[in-house]
Amino acid sequence: MVSMADRLGFGTHNKLKLGLFGANCSSGRTVTTVPERWSASWPEMLDLARVADEAGLEFLLPIGRWKGYGGDTDYQGATFETVTWATALLATTRRICVFGTVHAPLIHPVIAAKEFVTADHVGAGRFGLNVVCGWNEGEFEMFGVEQRQHEARYDYAREWLDAIKAMWTREDAFDVDGRYLSLKGVRANPKPYGGSRPMIMNAGASPVGQAFAVDNCDALFRAVRLATLGDARDQVAAVKARAALQGRDLGVYTIGVLTCRKTRREAREYYEYCTLEHADWSAVDRIMAMQKIDPSQYTAEEYRRIRRDFANGLSGFTLIGDPDDIAAELAQLSEAGFSGIALSMVNYGAELPFFRDEVLPRLERLGLREPVKN
Ligand SMILES: Cc1cc2nc3c(=O)[nH]c(=O)nc-3n(C[C@H](O)[C@H](O)[C@H](O)COP(=O)(O)O)c2cc1C
Repeated sequence: MVSMADRLGFGTHNKLKLGLFGANCSSGRTVTTVPERWSASWPEMLDLARVADEAGLEFLLPIGRWKGYGGDTDYQGATFETVTWATALLATTRRICVFGTVHAPLIHPVIAAKEFVTADHVGAGRFGLNVVCGWNEGEFEMFGVEQRQHEARYDYAREWLDAIKAMWTREDAFDVDGRYLSLKGVRANPKPYGGSRPMIMNAGASPVGQAFAVDNCDALFRAVRLATLGDARDQVAAVKARAALQGRDLGVYTIGVLTCRKTRREAREYYEYCTLEHADWSAVDRIMAMQKIDPSQYTAEEYRRIRRDFANGLSGFTLIGDPDDIAAELAQLSEAGFSGIALSMVNYGAELPFFRDEVLPRLERLGLREPVKN
């Protein structure tokens, strides 16, 4: 048996859970032209997953991306489909949870439910689901699917997820007769592994998106910046309190791009070289235009800051420093109520070993993590 509590804690007692975000995509999250940027080739991916697993990281979170963003590097132009990616990685790891990131409006729920169960059995209960509703118009056009209005996207996702949960639990044949879905005589076996179900997360940022996570998911991922961590503390408490009213313990996580080097100066220099001097600014400007970020709404200084944040993974916590700095900033996140963070690095494979050797022991000394039992 795998209990739901085990799944939601990723099988560890660590107060601050750690994962990697976006490694299924070329360039990962940093919009840079530097030659060492992440290629996301399968052999490198496989090595990375094994190193992360052995280091005791809790999860791998992929990005559901169907089409590159263009620019000089075609940022995120080469991506692995996330559920097949997760299934293969689950077959070659022992402890780590691997998420699939799935666009509810693009994947039929009967296919999706069975794919998730397949991955979950391969990983003996280590598959997790990140439900996304989508926002990227070009991706929907590529599928020939019309994107719904914002609120209706989450309404649809609720129906989609209810159908999947029913397939995961119901033994009888059943119909779904909803506003969007009409499914007849549905039967789905096997059920998820070990008598529980995959952990479900969502990363809605709007009030509607966050309400969806509170009502339907086990975890909410939300982007924060160091400068606004004070406000985030109250927001995390508020969203957890709303879930608690429904008798549920909602995990609140965030995302960040990490540049950790032996000295603060080296880290800062590398960040400046990679993310400022060698940003793929043509891709950054395309992404900002797709997200309808209008320069006229900002002061020149604000706009410059936003553009720099976009080059560094589009949004999220920017972690730059030596191992002490990074451990201290991660501790601040934990103090603000976050359950964990999904990190990205310019080259995950080259950078993770240093993080494992230098930052993880510091987090253990701070009481945020325990040593890995091999
Ligand atoms: C951690 C995280 C992961 C996300 N992953 C994806 C993804 O893989 N694909 C995608 O299209 N959108 C992704 N998004 C975007 C969200 O699903 C969502 O569309 C966005 O935060 C806007 O929220 P809203 O729909 O409430 O306006 C992600 C956002 C975050 C913070």
